[in-house]
Amino acid sequence: MRMLALLDGTLADPEVPLLRSDDLGVQRGDGIFETILAVDGNPREIEAHLDRLERSARLMELSLPERASWHRAVRAVLAEWPWDSVPESAIKLVCTRGPDGGDGTPTAFVSGQSLSAELMRKRAEGISVVTLERGIDPGMMERAPWLLLSAKTLSYAVNMAALREAERRGADEVVFTATDGSLLEGPTSNVVLAEGGRLATPPPSSGILRGTTQGALFRAAEEAGWSTAVEPITAERLGHADGVWLASSIRKITQVHTVDGTPVVTDPGLHERICKLYESQY
Ligand SMILES: Cc1ncc(COP(=O)(O)O)c(C=O)c1O
Repeated sequence: MRMLALLDGTLADPEVPLLRSDDLGVQRGDGIFETILAVDGNPREIEAHLDRLERSARLMELSLPERASWHRAVRAVLAEWPWDSVPESAIKLVCTRGPDGGDGTPTAFVSGQSLSAELMRKRAEGISVVTLERGIDPGMMERAPWLLLSAKTLSYAVNMAALREAERRGADEVVFTATDGSLLEGPTSNVVLAEGGRLATPPPSSGILRGTTQGALFRAAEEAGWSTAVEPITAERLGHADGVWLASSIRKITQVHTVDGTPVVTDPGLHERICKLYESQY
């Protein structure tokens, strides 16, 4: 199932081309995006996603259509989505710098797409990950803002290449590491560890995205009395944790069962508690 909406709130045919061939989003990956999970018509963390879209636009010096128009386009998709037969939708918000040599008017649209069977299987069965070097150190974001390390840009070719490398190594997913060996994030996810009643995730200051899913989980965990930490995490802590997860809007909180070919602790009861905490926010 696929749907497409323009920012004036009209629906368009997703089978019909929308972009010009000289759009800078296509030519240079010069644009930004967000992917929001909608369940039974409810778009989860939409304001946090729009905050992050605006932050990415600021970092990119990209002119972004006003917030109300994103809401309008998302509502257009939500209103027509067949929730009874397809209860979840990946709602993608895309904004590019527009055509090369144009007047700076961005290209913007919102699409809705059903989730793949593969993704649902990984949510249910868990995943194996490999750690791969990202080649950045934790101070890079501050030193080199032009690298756009914490912006959610359309330039995901490196992230996709890392996933192909994982596949070559027989794994499902990737956790990037910094040059000092600390954990960063997955190509499309944040890493969460449980260690003795405490949840931990690496800090956005290391040049990773501030995850809306990780944020929702930590909010729920704190309300339920867990302690949480956003702190540098060495890769070796993966092997000693009570549980490891990759968190993102579409995959939700997916459990990691293997790191670099070695099984890590998986506790079905703990996994269920973590998933329930996250779901308690909706
Ligand atoms: C690089 C990266 N980090 C983290 C995340 C998780 O963010 P969220 O939980 O807001 O989906 C994503 C989402 O796609 C991502 O692309």
